[in-house]
Amino acid sequence: MRSPTNHLGDVIPVPSSVRPASAVFFPLHLSGTAVSPAPAAPGVAEHLASTLDLPLRAGGAIRLELDDSGEPEAYRLEITAASVTLRAGSAAGLFWGVQTLVQLAAGADELPGGVIEDRPRFAYRGAMLDLARHFFTPDEVKAHIDLLVQFKINHLHLHLTDDQGWRLEIPGRPRLTEIGGGPGTGCDGAGPGFLTLAEYADLVAYAADRFVTIVPEIDMPGHVNAALVAYPELTPDGQPVAPRTDGEVGYSSLTVGKEETYAFVETVLGAVAELTPGPYLHIGGDECLSTDPADYRAFLDRVLPLPAKYGKRVIGWNEITAVDLPETAIVQYWRRRDEGDHVARTLAAGRQVIMSPADRAYLDMKYDASTPIGLDWAGLIPVERSYDWDPADVLPEESVLGVEAPLWSETLRSVADVQYLTLPRLPALAEIAWSPRGARDWPSFRDRLAALGSRWDAAGIGYHRSPEIDWR
Ligand code: ACM
Repeated sequence: MRSPTNHLGDVIPVPSSVRPASAVFFPLHLSGTAVSPAPAAPGVAEHLASTLDLPLRAGGAIRLELDDSGEPEAYRLEITAASVTLRAGSAAGLFWGVQTLVQLAAGADELPGGVIEDRPRFAYRGAMLDLARHFFTPDEVKAHIDLLVQFKINHLHLHLTDDQGWRLEIPGRPRLTEIGGGPGTGCDGAGPGFLTLAEYADLVAYAADRFVTIVPEIDMPGHVNAALVAYPELTPDGQPVAPRTDGEVGYSSLTVGKEETYAFVETVLGAVAELTPGPYLHIGGDECLSTDPADYRAFLDRVLPLPAKYGKRVIGWNEITAVDLPETAIVQYWRRRDEGDHVARTLAAGRQVIMSPADRAYLDMKYDASTPIGLDWAGLIPVERSYDWDPADVLPEESVLGVEAPLWSETLRSVADVQYLTLPRLPALAEIAWSPRGARDWPSFRDRLAALGSRWDAAGIGYHRSPEIDWR
């Protein structure tokens, strides 16, 4: 009897080009099957060998090779009866090819023969985790990164500060984390903790080893109650404000007319930039409902140029289109109010855009009315709704830098909660971000997704067993 084998196209995100070779199979578990070390990308070969539980040995039939294709994230995978050859123009391309190979090997004794040629549609494929409303430990974030890369996500945006907590140590401003990361912080006071400088640096390095860029967000001028609690000099009258752990938004603001505010902002952005090898600094800018609109614009005019001083591109939520943006600024489109208006303003801003429309891409929205955690202000988002849209239906393709799936943590209390809201919608959004539009459709995605449930069960990973999917 044939051992179980996956089909060559059974991959999420679906590859750009799949050419199966009929009746050709590469045996995975014959004694002697090995991965060759890859001098140009040793970590990637080791990652493959350990994931497939195969030895790493010179002359192994599974080979990873760098070529001069020049495309940083593209790869070509050729599987014959005698060999598996993965080629790419960079170690990152090899790493994404390895994720494809690992999916093809899952639960199988053989790899299906043929050729896959694959490249991402968008350079920015992101997920966001809100550490402010609930803190997740460095080990928990690392495990989340391990999950994300399986679907070729290459950016992890960390929402590090908000009304309910401040999660990154800032030299010279110790009270931010002593108080803002201390006991009783987070929504309902249930999510204390913060990242030390060393922990953050270690997380950035862990992500980089997996070709993931950390995108740090320090939200301002709103969403700052934790900062105001720690440093009352930032309030209009210098009087302390009370800590808050409820889920309200829009009530806190930095004081736009005070120089103390800009000293604070410079210290924080400078520190975060220094810790961040990646190209982006996210300054939030969303939901500043208690900042006077003229003040909001004055604040942004002064703060949006700061990341460039440190060699970083600034990112802000779509509200930042209220001002003329620096040339390299990136708008993260989520909208909340006045949808058409925000699309028009984002377009008019003429800048690159990260697409995170809340009613499609927010992982914290409930799947359906019975979902025990999550929110529903942007509507219910079953799996098909998270999949069945396209960024180019909202904005021109050229202006889209990529797609990001944000996970806000007001209702999250555990890693199990993170997994439940992330899976299976993150794979849907990852496919939108990676695969050519013409190569993907819901019936095919739904079918490919069905195979993943038993793998997640076996790996002890939680997910929403959506009734939309015929889980196998
Ligand atoms: C947001 O959801 N406030 C960007």
